[in-house]
Amino acid sequence: MTPSEIRKELLEQHASLRSKIDATRASAERWQRGEPAREELRSNLALLAEGVRAHNRREEELLREVIPGADAWGQARAEVMEESHVQEHKAIYEALIDAGAASEAAAGVPPVLKLLDAMLDHIQHEEASFLGADVLRDDAVTPDFFGG
Ligand SMILES: [Fe+2]
Ligand SMILES: [Fe+2]
Repeated sequence: MTPSEIRKELLEQHASLRSKIDATRASAERWQRGEPAREELRSNLALLAEGVRAHNRREEELLREVIPGADAWGQARAEVMEESHVQEHKAIYEALIDAGAASEAAAGVPPVLKLLDAMLDHIQHEEASFLGADVLRDDAVTPDFFGG
């Protein structure tokens, strides 16, 4: 895959995660308003967790390959990715798995909303850093770096 193809795939996955985040937020807010939306929230959290798990796995796999070749700062980014990025993926996924456990909206909704905001921050940060068009450029790598 070329860097631009990798970038396109990951950005598409981000768009899909954003819509799952929006749906989850809508359920959480309905539950908070007293509507019987707890089960809907739990099912949206499960869908979101599954989407996040698949995306994180793919992102780690693709970026581990591409980042060191992408530009002069690539190696540093790759190291950041190995350390804090992968840990953040794990923390988000685990928090999503736990997030549906509360039985009262007053206790259950605020941590969900906080987690959704943290997920949006994570995605936004990625798009402003290593998923920028100036980083994942097709002309910045040697042709054989990806092994065809
Ligand atoms: Fe990520
Ligand atoms: Fe991502």
